[in-house]
Amino acid sequence: MSSTDEIKSRVDIVDLVSEAGVKLRHTGKNYTGFCPFHENKHTPAFVVWPESGTWRCFGQCNEGGDIFKFVMKKEGVDFKEALQLLATRAGVELNQFQRETPGLKEAADLLRVLLEDAVIYYRSQLFQHKEILTYLREKRGLTDSTIETFGLGYAPEGYDNLMNHFARKGCSPGDLLEAGLLSERDDGKRFDRFRHRIMFPIRDEQGRMAGFGARIVSPTDVPKFLNSPETPTFSKGRLLYGLDRARKPIRAADQAVIVEGYLDVIALHQAGFENVVSPMGTALTEDQLRLIKRFTRRIVLALDPDLAGQKAVLRGLDAARQAMDREGDFSFDARGLLKHEARLQADLRVASMPDELDPDEIVTRDRTEWKRLIENAKPIVTHVMDTLAKGQNLNDPKVKNQIAAQVIPLIEDLPDPLERDTYRQQLARMLRVDEGALIGVQFRGPGEKRARPRQAQNAQTASVVAPSNPTLKVEAYCLAILFRRPELLYRLDRKLQEFGLMPLNAEDFEYTDHQLLFEVIRQAVEQDEKDHYHYLTTHLPEALEGLSKDLLAQTEKLDPLDDRLLEELLARFIDLRRSDAQSNVSELRFLQEEEQQQGGVNLKQYQEQAVQFTRLLQSLDQAKRKLFLKRQV
Ligand code: UTP
Ligand code: MN
Repeated sequence: MSSTDEIKSRVDIVDLVSEAGVKLRHTGKNYTGFCPFHENKHTPAFVVWPESGTWRCFGQCNEGGDIFKFVMKKEGVDFKEALQLLATRAGVELNQFQRETPGLKEAADLLRVLLEDAVIYYRSQLFQHKEILTYLREKRGLTDSTIETFGLGYAPEGYDNLMNHFARKGCSPGDLLEAGLLSERDDGKRFDRFRHRIMFPIRDEQGRMAGFGARIVSPTDVPKFLNSPETPTFSKGRLLYGLDRARKPIRAADQAVIVEGYLDVIALHQAGFENVVSPMGTALTEDQLRLIKRFTRRIVLALDPDLAGQKAVLRGLDAARQAMDREGDFSFDARGLLKHEARLQADLRVASMPDELDPDEIVTRDRTEWKRLIENAKPIVTHVMDTLAKGQNLNDPKVKNQIAAQVIPLIEDLPDPLERDTYRQQLARMLRVDEGALIGVQFRGPGEKRARPRQAQNAQTASVVAPSNPTLKVEAYCLAILFRRPELLYRLDRKLQEFGLMPLNAEDFEYTDHQLLFEVIRQAVEQDEKDHYHYLTTHLPEALEGLSKDLLAQTEKLDPLDDRLLEELLARFIDLRRSDAQSNVSELRFLQEEEQQQGGVNLKQYQEQAVQFTRLLQSLDQAKRKLFLKRQV
């Protein structure tokens, strides 16, 4: 999720507007009140739709928008400032999504150069210490080409080898410290951080040096693994070891396998299983799963069979369920209506390692065994069911309840209805309860509270994902296509005009960030100095960086047929306009009734608006029919 989407899902517009001093009254599904942006003591023409997180003034202002627009207008600030204010309110970190400033980027680039030099240095040390090389070759079964490929090295014993080496080259100790290659004592004395250890260079997914992992050589040294400290290039929770080499294989296999150790990654790659990565001694984080999500949604967790490993799986699973957020499944039903089902679009499985063995031991013992283990990885639901049931008294109603509460949300997340049925049956059998008792029951874990629509979700309850908002998803989806294929905009406009409809404009989007991004796309196709994509990337407002990355990631597997995309876009924009007009019409009907009781000063205005929207609805329906007929031939 981009930071803007995250904010949208966490900030409740009803709270936001109420706090701005607008008294809101519940009217059906919506709220109405007096518009804070214009003087009017007569009728409350300001409407808030909690479900979509939007508002509109049907009175004098005759405009509307989302939470960002509301704050922009209320506080008189621009989008970027509104984003900042709302991010703070929602507790969403913005930094990670924002562009590295030029200064910071230069500094990071300098550190990367140092780290590359360090790789070369540690490598040369490895070849001067044959006993370490022998250990890697003979004890760990690594070939020379693997050692080369992964850039393995050795940090010699002693406190100043690397420091002296770099000093001779004229590097400043300050930079080495910042790169995480040196450590500093309280009295300011600096020394080599890594001593007598096997060095694993850690790169980001683009292959840029980020830091090192370092394993002991002598069994009594502690800790067994020492990583680079957090530096401008190294952040344990945001990197995955091996992803630079694994990203292509992951995409090709449409599957990522996650193991727990550096040497496991290396051994598996050497054996030809290249879709493997590992975190660095921590449970999987949301950031790491987001990173993987860019390449595949099918993930196998190959983790230790012990209890700690199991817990890690469950923790990782929680993170996964947050990061893999509920994507909408869009499709047209028999009546040509846009259907939207929010489900977790990820396939998470667990492969248990037999005989207390690490993946590297298994694959070295028998290649095909690894293959079989991964192929037989259990769906996460089965795994969780089995793990939770182990050693429990399944006759105890309390136990039954606890297990059901943890398993049912997982079942409800599954995209396939058949699968959901199967697992419900399986769970019912296991708990020996009537299957009917499990259907439609809203189990909630301890401490999770039921979310109001669009209710703010704080970090602690983030495992309850906000109900997804169809408009938001459809808009983002359309925008994502246009972002990838800006040239489709021309053809889309032409088609809309053929149907007697207005060309696409920013108002077709309800959300301010979508509007802004759309405007940049529009500018990109209207200029001819640079190619579209180049224009887009250079003119993107900094605050929309996160959103645009998210959109680009969504369209990596875009349908190559422009005609199909065009039809898709057309249908969806018509639907968006339709649902917007529809909700305005019904709101206006309500306002007219109110107005009549109040004396009717604004009645005419409301009637005119209603007529306009009704006409629009008719042309949209006509367009939709034509589009549908065209499809049939
Ligand atoms: P393991 O102890 O299972 O090591 O830690 P391993 O990778 O199998 O190494 P070998 O086979 O004994 O040589 C698994 C992972 O946990 C992290 C490292 O990333 C390691 O690869 N770890 C472990 C640490 O970060 N710190 C530690 O002290 C131990
Ligand atoms: Mn191991």
